[in-house]
Amino acid sequence: MTALKFLFLEDSSTDLELIQRELKKGGVDYIPVHVQDRDEYLKAIEDEKPDFIFSDYSLPNFDGLSALSIAKEQCPTTPFIFVSGTYGEDAAIQTLTRGATDYVLKDRLVKLVPALRRAIREIEEHQALRRAEQEKFEIEEQLRQSQKVEAMGFLAGAMAHEINNPIMAIIDYAQLISKGELDPDKVQKISSKIKTEGERISIMVKDLLRFARHEKGNFEPVSVFALVSKVRSIAEQRMKMSRIELELHIDTALPSVLCKEGQILQVLLNLINNGIDALNQRYPEYNEDKRMIIQAKPEEIGGKSWIRITVEDQGSGIPQEIAKSIFNTFFTTKGADKGTGLGLSVSLGIVKEHGWFLSFESMPNEYTRFFLDLPAV
Ligand SMILES: Nc1ncnc2c1ncn2[C@@H]1O[C@H](COP(=O)(O)OP(=O)(O)OP(=O)(O)O)[C@@H](O)[C@H]1O
Ligand SMILES: [Mg+2]
Repeated sequence: MTALKFLFLEDSSTDLELIQRELKKGGVDYIPVHVQDRDEYLKAIEDEKPDFIFSDYSLPNFDGLSALSIAKEQCPTTPFIFVSGTYGEDAAIQTLTRGATDYVLKDRLVKLVPALRRAIREIEEHQALRRAEQEKFEIEEQLRQSQKVEAMGFLAGAMAHEINNPIMAIIDYAQLISKGELDPDKVQKISSKIKTEGERISIMVKDLLRFARHEKGNFEPVSVFALVSKVRSIAEQRMKMSRIELELHIDTALPSVLCKEGQILQVLLNLINNGIDALNQRYPEYNEDKRMIIQAKPEEIGGKSWIRITVEDQGSGIPQEIAKSIFNTFFTTKGADKGTGLGLSVSLGIVKEHGWFLSFESMPNEYTRFFLDLPAV
């Protein structure tokens, strides 16, 4: 045990000596700071930043309970142990409910060192827990980033395709103009078309950049319609290739949701990708039932407005045996080259972090519906 700084609030030097002797007997290594009244106590907390506080219950010009509330305010994590002789069991229990770490009676000082060790152990356990939580958070953050890179690659692929169309148009228009055979009126018209096409590209690139940025930024109201339209334009390409029919049921008048847009996009993209995979698994070729349905509907839950986005596929479905595992990190039923098993676990992380909800229902070889619930603005 490295030397800790102990603050003793004690008016009797005899008692202080007894306490310190007990600590010495227990082999406790510490740096003592001794105070006797309120002013000294306040100053010591401020200047010395003690690791532990030992306080008498009743003092001539101050009292232990006030010392406790000051400690709770100024240094809430510092353990506070009452060492006193003047109070009964009731008062002792009261000190604990007010936040004291422990109490030891002066006529049973043998209990002091065990109480101290207990408190130290609790602190260490607490610190270990905090470290573990921090590590977990960092790992999740890394996973989120790597999954995002994956989603981004997908997004970039889809966009390259989208961007190609306006670029082709721009090239055609430029060739028309360069021939020099058009009257000024026509040139004017074509120039403005070039501008429109250029702006389309610019918006797409901006979207991609916004998604790529590590969005620590602000939550903004985003229209659900715009959101789903964006997801659609991203996913459409992959759906076309798999000959999947997409049905959209989105009310244009839906309220907005407060979010970081890139993150909802990431969640929806994961759900849609899973749906496409499930449909391809059930129907490797074309089938008239190879269908995906995306819906957004308003909901009332507990007097509050929510929006439920449903991503439904009529694919292979989720068997009961794996239903409990699908949100686990790295759980995948797809080949190693196809799935990493990050999509749903990362999505759930994002969803939880925002206080949204993600749930699903499924009937093998019939359908799977994922529900994303978002609070409306
Ligand atoms: N719509 C769905 N239909 C059928 N099974 C699904 C569906 N969505 C998820 N699953 C099951 O849940 C598992 C985990 O999904 P998750 O998105 O986390 O990982 P993945 O799709 O396998 O890989 P990744 O998303 O990292 O590429 C999938 O492997 C699949 O078995
Ligand atoms: Mg997935």
